[in-house]
Amino acid sequence: MSVTFPNRFLWGTAAAAHQIEGGNWNNDWWVFEHKEGSPCVEPSGDCTDSYHRYAEDIALVRDMGLDAYRFSIEWSRIEPEDGEFSIAALDYYRRMLAECHAQGVQPVVTFHHFSTPRWMVAQGGWESPAVVGRFAQFCERAVAHLGDLITMGCTINEPNAMSIEGWVLGVFPPGKKDFKTYAQVNEHLKAAHRESYDALKSGPGDFPVGLTVSMADWWAPEGGEDALTRSRHMMEGQFLECARGDDYLGVQAYTRIRLDERGLPQGGEDGVEMVPSVEYEFWPQALEASIRYAAEVAQTPLYVTENGLGHDDDTRRIAYVEAALEGVGRCLTDGLDVRGYFYWSLLDNFEWARGYGPKFGLFEVDRQTFLRSPKPSAKWFGAIAQANKLG
Ligand code: GCO
Repeated sequence: MSVTFPNRFLWGTAAAAHQIEGGNWNNDWWVFEHKEGSPCVEPSGDCTDSYHRYAEDIALVRDMGLDAYRFSIEWSRIEPEDGEFSIAALDYYRRMLAECHAQGVQPVVTFHHFSTPRWMVAQGGWESPAVVGRFAQFCERAVAHLGDLITMGCTINEPNAMSIEGWVLGVFPPGKKDFKTYAQVNEHLKAAHRESYDALKSGPGDFPVGLTVSMADWWAPEGGEDALTRSRHMMEGQFLECARGDDYLGVQAYTRIRLDERGLPQGGEDGVEMVPSVEYEFWPQALEASIRYAAEVAQTPLYVTENGLGHDDDTRRIAYVEAALEGVGRCLTDGLDVRGYFYWSLLDNFEWARGYGPKFGLFEVDRQTFLRSPKPSAKWFGAIAQANKLG
């Protein structure tokens, strides 16, 4: 299927501070990785040393012919202690933004991507209503220093994934299985999005701001429709509603979620290809389904701010992205306002509790020398972005 994308469609790739910078020790993830009995298979350690090699990474984005690079700034570097802001850390990220502009790459900045400062967690973290104001104040200080160089902002990455993984599944910090607190955390995350959105819009620079939501293609058997509707609203819909009126909503989708008729999650369907490193279905259809649901509920312009495949076989990555982009094409044909696509991720990197096993990158990284090497998918994806056309 051939797809010609709209003029000014934004092509990019995405990453996150704690997954690529390295040495990010002053946050809850570093503690979680090293605690006794951690679900993490290994600590993040040096990651891809992108803290020191960001200019090299930006050049990879530029040389693929992409328009933009999405990355996050680390709250615990900028505010290492309660109320203590580091000018040196803010200057560091300002140099990174300036490097993007110098190389002709648009910087898309995420202000929270799963990691929270130790001092904030010591005060209750996302379980405390105080986090709303503290996160908004961090955003206010950061945007005051950086806003004039930002081309697009994201307040919080996947608040819905952070809360379910941290307070129900127990595989993200704080590693709890406490549904009551999970619901409270969601309220704090939604409030924090709203207050940080206002903080970013009030600062220097005139850039679109939005929220990114982890989404999926949902399926349930006959009789499971009500359970599916309830689960999908809890997991996605409430955050999409919270995004109404924003400049955009970031759709992030990878696979399918299957429920039984009672609404209990099921594994992969017999006969459907599984992705071994992440143990979920190879399901590129997830992107189209997620775009359609986001358009219906959020009623904002949309960017695909994450989509990709964590697979050792690069040919499966190409097949997955091709099918996912065909789904974007069908959404565009139906008049949905999709404005860009960011592949997750530029580099093979720290995949949270799964460590360095899942290989999402367009580039592999030697973990001893940090040498970046392109996979065939890097050239393939870059050619699509440069042509603004699939097929
Ligand atoms: C997420 C995060 C990314 C992941 C990516 C692959 O969606 O969980 O935004 O940090 O690494 O999605 O799972």
